[in-house]
Amino acid sequence: MTNPSTPPLSGAPLLEVQGLGIRFGGLHAVRDVTAQLQPGRITAIIGPNGAGKSTFFNLISGFYKPTSGRIIFRGEDITPLRTHLVVGRGIARTFQTTTIYQELSVLDNAMIGHRVRTRAGLLDALLRTGRERHDESESRAGAMRALERVGLAGQAALPAGALNQEGKKRVGIAMALASDPHLLLLDEPAAGMNPEETENLMGLIRQLVSGGLSIALVEHKMNLVMGLADDILVLHHGQKIAQGTPAQITRDPAVVEAYLGSHAHGGQMGQEQEQGGQPGTVQDAGVDHA
Ligand SMILES: Nc1ncnc2c1ncn2[C@@H]1O[C@H](COP(=O)(O)OP(=O)(O)O)[C@@H](O)[C@H]1O
Ligand SMILES: [Mg+2]
Repeated sequence: MTNPSTPPLSGAPLLEVQGLGIRFGGLHAVRDVTAQLQPGRITAIIGPNGAGKSTFFNLISGFYKPTSGRIIFRGEDITPLRTHLVVGRGIARTFQTTTIYQELSVLDNAMIGHRVRTRAGLLDALLRTGRERHDESESRAGAMRALERVGLAGQAALPAGALNQEGKKRVGIAMALASDPHLLLLDEPAAGMNPEETENLMGLIRQLVSGGLSIALVEHKMNLVMGLADDILVLHHGQKIAQGTPAQITRDPAVVEAYLGSHAHGGQMGQEQEQGGQPGTVQDAGVDHA
């Protein structure tokens, strides 16, 4: 299952979190997580619904500030940095539900991605302030490069609303790639996709990584996780309960317990990949999913 371009395990990690945690009132959404992400790899973050996966991404990308711990990216402590500075350091993300402007062109969407993720805010991007006009050609070039990377250069002039579901997902990824990140965070990239679209998305992710990008993703579809990830980090009730290769994780008793728990109705994680319906999701393993 190792990615063909996986570099040897040497040198410093790309990202390191140390004792990372955040509380929302009495709820410890992420608690004392210490983990490393290696460069040039695909790391999957999995765990039952509500485990803290999206919150983990929100912490790494600077959307939330941790109540404990540190985030080290490429050797720099980025814990105090605001979102746009984190983007500037090379971390970009997609959202669980990416907002795409249906009536705007694919290129304009990617350009908005570039602007929102670099210097100016969404309002600036939409109102086209002076600074925005000044940045226009740079944004356009960055957005075009991103569209090429996701295979949408030929559709740049189409309204985004004219694309199918898979195309819209690619636009969302291009919006994140427009800032030319080192690390791309994908939150449930295959949500709402059929098996063929999921396969295509996996091909795209592999292609991006072989081009030098590092990717961390949250995903419920176990066939995608097991077929793609070099490394899997498992969260449960906000805590890290395991980290390892797909083979190690499927055998890990704490992971099996977390997924099956008291809802167990048969089948271990990763063994339900080829079934029909909603194939290979953790919901199949009896986990509630809002
Ligand atoms: N901004 C917030 N305020 C309060 N609670 C939150 C907030 N964000 C997430 N949570 C809570 O933190 C827990 C983890 O949520 P989340 O990270 O979205 O889980 P996952 O992505 O693993 O399904 C949940 O109980 C959720 O309700
Ligand atoms: Mg989530």
